[in-house]
Order: sequence, then C-alpha cells, then structure tokens
Amino acid sequence: MITKQKRKIVLIGDGLVGSAYAFSVVQQGLANELVIINKKPDRSMGDALDLEDATPFTAPVSVSAGGYKDCQDADIVVICAGAAQKPGETRLQLVEKNLKIMKEIVQEVVNTGFKGIFLVAANPVDILTYAVQKISDFPANKVIGSGTSLDSARLRVALGKEFKVDPRDVRVDMLAEHGDSEFAAYSCATIGGIPLLDYAATMGISIQRLQRIEDQIRNKAYDIINRKGATYYGVATSLARITKAIMDDQNAVLPVSVYLNGEYGQKDIYLGTPAVINRQGIRKVIELPLNAREQVSLANSAKVLQETTANGMA
Ligand code: 2OP
Repeated sequence: MITKQKRKIVLIGDGLVGSAYAFSVVQQGLANELVIINKKPDRSMGDALDLEDATPFTAPVSVSAGGYKDCQDADIVVICAGAAQKPGETRLQLVEKNLKIMKEIVQEVVNTGFKGIFLVAANPVDILTYAVQKISDFPANKVIGSGTSLDSARLRVALGKEFKVDPRDVRVDMLAEHGDSEFAAYSCATIGGIPLLDYAATMGISIQRLQRIEDQIRNKAYDIINRKGATYYGVATSLARITKAIMDDQNAVLPVSVYLNGEYGQKDIYLGTPAVINRQGIRKVIELPLNAREQVSLANSAKVLQETTANGMA
C-alpha cells in the first residue's frame, strides 16, 4: 500500500492575513491537512467550511477548525495572530501588544510536544520571530519569520515595471527589518546575470530613480493600509511560497527573517536576508557582499530592532 506523506499545517490567527494564507494553502495544495485555530472559533469554523468547498476544484486538503492539541504532529505552525497596523501606525508600535499574544501562543504550542517549524508573520515580525525562538527554545533554523520576503517581492514588481522585464527575473532583495529601516541591496542585484546597477546605466535609469523606488517600497504597506485598511494578499502569498519551500524540501533561496550568528557582524538578532530553505527550515543563511553604504544601513536597522526588542521584552 502506498501511504501518502503527511503534510500538516496549523494556522494560528484567522484574520485577514491568516484566511488569505489558508486560501493559498488550499489553492496550491500545500498540505493535505490544514487546521485553523482562532480566538473566535466561529470564524475559523466558518472559514474551514468555506475553504473545504474549494477543495474539489483545487487539491485534496482536509480543512478543519481546531485547537492547540492539533499542533502536536504538525509540520509547520504558522502564526498570523496579533494586532495589525492601523492607518498611521508603524509595525514597531505593535510590539508590546503582540509580544504578549505571542508568549501565550508559543507556550501553548510547545506544551503539545510540537517539533516542527514555526513560521511567523505577525508584526513587528523580526522581533516577534526572535521572541518565538527564545520562548520556544527551538533551534534557530526551525523558527522563521516572513521578514522581507514581501518587501523583496514588492521591489521586484516595481523594478520589473521600470526595466520592462518579468519581476520574477529581477534578482534583488530588501534586507534587514521588515519595516521602516529596511533597504534595497542594489549592489548585489542582477537582471539576466548582469549587475542591476550596470543594467540601469545602459537604460538611463539613475541611482536617484532607484532610490525613489526603494522609498516607495518602504512605504507601500502604508499606501495600501491608507486605502483599504490592511494588507493581506501579498504577505499571504509570500508565506505560501515559504511554506512550499519547506514542504517540498526545495532548498529555495528566499529572503526571510532569520537568526544571525555573526553574519553581517550581527549576533543574536532576527532580520531579513536570503536563506536556503528546506524541510529542516533554514539550511543556510546567505550573507550578501554589501557595499559600504548598505552595510551602514544594515547596522542601523539592526540597532533599531535591538533597541525595540530590549524595550518590548523588558
Ligand atoms: C505589509 O508590509 C503590513 O507588514 C505588512 O504589508
């Protein structure tokens, strides 16, 4: 008899981001079991019933509403719970509120004997992912934050338009905080194997223009939140991409929030940088060869995160 490999995801937090993620899991068939946990169980029960109706059109995913006990044999626990930014609010301003929520959740999950991978999306994501690792005491490779995966995607979209190429063919990353101190690692970016900065020069695209695009990316979440109150499709799809890398043991290189242990001269901090991701979680952290200006930006962003973490966790 052929037994199918179990692929179980537990989603904690069924708000706008969580439910968009659940929809991606069902649409892409990323798991054969998806359990949704939510503070208000009517919402998760309703979503489970609604999502299972999609499965005959997509993939055989069993979707249910559940509780913490379901985490015990899960491969991935995805945390989307927590308060979201309101218009005008920064991600860092959510730190106290969401650290408290995170502590309760992680303790519950760990108590079940869960041994899989934590994937964290709640904001401020770098700080909360750091907290999840500390509270759970899990190996750092098994605790991943969505980090700058979304911001990098946003940058690729903008540069794809600017350079008139498919955004998937623009190799570029936003690094460091998923937030206001992030920056574009332009010096390491390529299009078609050519350094992006050289490619830009041949097209008459100036450094100032690239910097303006970088600013727009830093502010894109605010632009969306001011218009429709929240962002969710982008981040949910980036979470799905990370999930796929884990579930399919892809060794995919994606920019995510990872624990640094000396990379970029930083220690004991989570921030966004590319990493190789497979079934074990983070197989390898990639340290990009940044130029001097980018190194300063990274150190500055790390400082912002460390100071906010120290205040938030005090
Ligand atoms: C985003 O960048 C708000 O962190 C969320 O869309």
